Amino acid sequence: MDLHVANHPLVSHKLSVLRDQDTPSPVFRALTSELVTLLAYEATRNIRTEDHQIVTPVQTTVGKKLAKPRPVVVPILRAGLGMLEGMVALLPSAEVGFLGMVRDEETLQPSVYAERLPENLSDRQCFVLDPMLATGGSLLQAIRFLAQKGASDITAVCLLGAPEGVKAVEEGTKGLKVTIVLGALDEKLNERGFIVPGLGDAGDRLYGTVG
Ligand code: PRP
Repeated sequence: MDLHVANHPLVSHKLSVLRDQDTPSPVFRALTSELVTLLAYEATRNIRTEDHQIVTPVQTTVGKKLAKPRPVVVPILRAGLGMLEGMVALLPSAEVGFLGMVRDEETLQPSVYAERLPENLSDRQCFVLDPMLATGGSLLQAIRFLAQKGASDITAVCLLGAPEGVKAVEEGTKGLKVTIVLGALDEKLNERGFIVPGLGDAGDRLYGTVG
């Protein structure tokens, strides 16, 4: 597994505003989108392209275009939905699949409640979006889901990660080509499985609390 942690002052600045408990949802959503576009630049570094002849006003030359089959972007509902717009801004031709997962607040175990993905993901580069990599349970389950459908090249884009989650994903995905791109690697998890210092519950901060 490859891990990339953004090392960029704009990412740190925008993340600090997200972390601030007084930042309201509309600002939180706008900043999440901006951050994802910045992280997407790193996440798509190895996206497959193919040569393509073009004619400039001066001469004919060989350019690049995204290779087929098209990449697949998979936001993990609910919070990952807040990252979708920022990602497709950079990858407008990507296909989008959805995975709905929720983490039990007591056991911290994730479960899948919705799935709408292409049946066959072999040869497709997949980009999983989830703002928080806490225990890693949700991301690990999502990666396994995609791998079962044939995906062999999976990149996860997360705003924040905890060392515990990074380790769990690394240990649980041996043999798969997995990359994690993080806005920041935080200190640890607390006893409730929240990232510290973190930003709280990303889903609630984006969309409000659900009963
Ligand atoms: C949060 C978060 C991740 C997951 C991270 O989702 O958005 O999906 O928990 O935790 P983990 O790494 O320990 O699995 P949550 O279950 O709160 O659902 P939501 O997105 O609907 O708010």
